Amino acid sequence: MTITIIGSGKVGASAALNCGLRELDRDILLLDIVQGLPQGEAMDINHQLSERGFDTIVRGSNNYEDVRDSDYVVLVAGVGRKPGMTRMDLLKINAGIVKDVVSKVALYAKNATVVVVTNPLDPMTYFTLKTLGAKKNKVMGMGGMLDLSRFKSFIRDATNISRSSIQAMVISEHGENMLPLTRFSSIGGIPLHEFISKDKAMEIFEKTRKVAAEVIALKGATVYAPGNAVANMLESAIRDKKLVIPVSTLLEGEYGFYDVCIGVPVIIGAGGVERIIELKLDSFEQEIFSKGAASVKEAIRALPL
Ligand code: LAC
Repeated sequence: MTITIIGSGKVGASAALNCGLRELDRDILLLDIVQGLPQGEAMDINHQLSERGFDTIVRGSNNYEDVRDSDYVVLVAGVGRKPGMTRMDLLKINAGIVKDVVSKVALYAKNATVVVVTNPLDPMTYFTLKTLGAKKNKVMGMGGMLDLSRFKSFIRDATNISRSSIQAMVISEHGENMLPLTRFSSIGGIPLHEFISKDKAMEIFEKTRKVAAEVIALKGATVYAPGNAVANMLESAIRDKKLVIPVSTLLEGEYGFYDVCIGVPVIIGAGGVERIIELKLDSFEQEIFSKGAASVKEAIRALPL
C-alpha cells in the first residue's frame, strides 16, 4: 500500500512525518514539482523514523508516474495564504493547480482515497471530487479536524483540564463561516456548558475561527497541526477505526443542502467517508452553517468545471 502526499512544502512534510510516526504505511511518497525538495524532506524524515525504530520508508519524487496505484493521496499542492488574506482569496490560483494535479492523479491513481488540504478547502474538495470523477466517499477535505484541534486547545486553556478529556466538534466552512459547536462539545462526557459560561464559550468560538490567521501572521504558515489532522483522518481510514471526524464531504440533502462540499461529522473507515452524521442544529448554528454553505456554493460557481 502507498500513501502519496502531493505538495512537499511544510504541511506536506509535516503530514509525512505524522504518518511515519504512526507507521500508517510502509511506503510514503512525497511528491513536488520543486526539484530536490521532496527528496530532501524524505531523507530528513527517514533519519528521524530510523532513530525511533519505525519502518516506514518515505520516498521523494518529482515524477507523477511514481504516484501509480497509490491507495491514499493527500492533496496539499497549492499556494498558502499570506498574512491578511482569507482562504477564499486563493480560489482562482489554487483551482488551476488542483485541476492540473488531479488530472494526473486520475491518470495514475484513479481509485485512491483522497484527502484534500489545499485552500479554500471546501471548494477545492468539491473541485477534486468532480475533476477526479470519484465516488463521494473517496474524497474528503481536511478542515474540521484541524479546527477542532484549535477549539480543544482553547477549551483546555479556559478550564485547565487535560486535553485528553476534551471532545470538540467544528463543522461548516473551513473559513469565515466556521462553526465551533460548543453545544456538542464535552469534557469527560459532560457537556462543555457545565464548565464554562456562554460568554466564555463565545470567546472561544471566535478565537477558534481566527487563530489560523494569527499563526500565519507570526510564523508565515500553519504546519504541525495540519499535518497531524491529515494523519488522524488517514489513520481512521487505513486502520478502519470508524472514528467520528468532521471533514468536508459532498452533501446530497443532508443538513438540507445538495451539491456542496462542507464540513460535517462523518464516520471514517476503510470505505473512506462511510456515513454522514446529521446533528439537530439550533437557529444560531443553522444560520452560520447556511452562510457557510452559501459561501462555498458561490465559490463553486466560479470554478472551471
Ligand atoms: C489552517 C489552514 C490549513 O487553517 O487552512 O491552518
